[in-house]
Amino acid sequence: MDHFHYKEDELFAEEVALNDIAEKYGTPAFVYSKATLQRHAKAYIDSFKSMNGLVCFSVKALSNISILKILKNSGCGFDIVSGGELHRALLAGADPKTIIFSGVGKSKTEMIAGIENDILSFNVESEQELDQLGVVAAEMKKIAPVAIRFNPNVDAGVHEFTKTGRKFDKFGVSIEAAKDLVKKCNESNSLKLVGLTCHIGSQIMELNGFEEAASQALELLVELDKLNINLDFIDMGGGLGVNYVGEETVQPIELIQCYEKIFSERNERLILEPGRSISANAGVMLTRVEYKKNDFLIADAAMNDLLRPALYQAHHDVWPITKKNDAMQSNVNLVGPICETGDFLAKNIESESSTGDLLAVKTVGAYGFVMSSNYNSRPRAAEIIVDKDKFYLIRKREDYSSLTDLEEGLDAQI
Ligand SMILES: Cc1ncc(COP(=O)(O)O)c(C=O)c1O
Repeated sequence: MDHFHYKEDELFAEEVALNDIAEKYGTPAFVYSKATLQRHAKAYIDSFKSMNGLVCFSVKALSNISILKILKNSGCGFDIVSGGELHRALLAGADPKTIIFSGVGKSKTEMIAGIENDILSFNVESEQELDQLGVVAAEMKKIAPVAIRFNPNVDAGVHEFTKTGRKFDKFGVSIEAAKDLVKKCNESNSLKLVGLTCHIGSQIMELNGFEEAASQALELLVELDKLNINLDFIDMGGGLGVNYVGEETVQPIELIQCYEKIFSERNERLILEPGRSISANAGVMLTRVEYKKNDFLIADAAMNDLLRPALYQAHHDVWPITKKNDAMQSNVNLVGPICETGDFLAKNIESESSTGDLLAVKTVGAYGFVMSSNYNSRPRAAEIIVDKDKFYLIRKREDYSSLTDLEEGLDAQI
């Protein structure tokens, strides 16, 4: 559930009219609802009944520092995948002991930063990475905490680009290889095995894949018991799907109950890494229609602002900021000004809108702003958060100097 709703014919975020935000900060703009973020974090945190659960919000979904602060204050830790995300989580005031570092390609520099900051765990995805982490930690005369990411060979039934748990995907290692890495870790003086982890994909709409992966994790834990190897946590990753255009979704409580049942005989802590299911429905993108041309609404937002439709053929609902009850609807495509036919925000939607009207593209709080770029030399949009009847700018709109500030050599003869 989110906090975007109509009051009569005006679309509001909590108690703020989106028209007021567009007037003050212009478009395109990403607008987030604090109450929605808090509600979704709480839906996870309050669902743990045992296993001393920890929710590590996946920073890649939405990484604005103000948002991370809100989630930290709601009780979340963080799942990061880069040194940049570590920097953000620390700036947001995260306790390093609630930060886990995922990803297949951590660099030496990123390992050093994680060790220096004493994070909870490196979720390691290959033998090569484990070896490198061991060397880095030894050079620093430290012990690096490690969770092994196993690949359960589960097809999560989602978009090809967001499946991560099949044996031929680049993520994790097979169960057999995971056992070898566990042993290797135990023999190392600079690595400490603390957990087991997996993540099978994103925008998952059914429990079966999660259940299958958890059952395999359980079998592995039982085998490790026999070797007298004890872990602090089992991290089942993220992946829960959200409602983009009216789909039925699995609720966090159902997922957590499923895990707690499977792991009911275990003493390890349960960690989850949700991203989308916490932030997606907490954000909308405001855009203005510049022109109506045939069946195209040409907006001032484009694929550089919201890549998901072009990248995944993703569908987002589009709502008018002000409903025109007496206007005729027609079937249109909402497109951007970028010079690509793939630059669309929504296809085949029924809309009454025309030139000058404001629209809200819904459910863009995850993998929205974070995937934006400067393609076509377009400055990135502003980000704003609504808290009840107030709203605050949390990232300025970029301007033309933001586009060129880092470029060098304007005066030199090249
Ligand atoms: C390792 C890992 N954890 C968590 C997530 C978050 O997934 P979601 O946003 O679907 O919850 C991802 C996303 O791809 C991921 O790769």
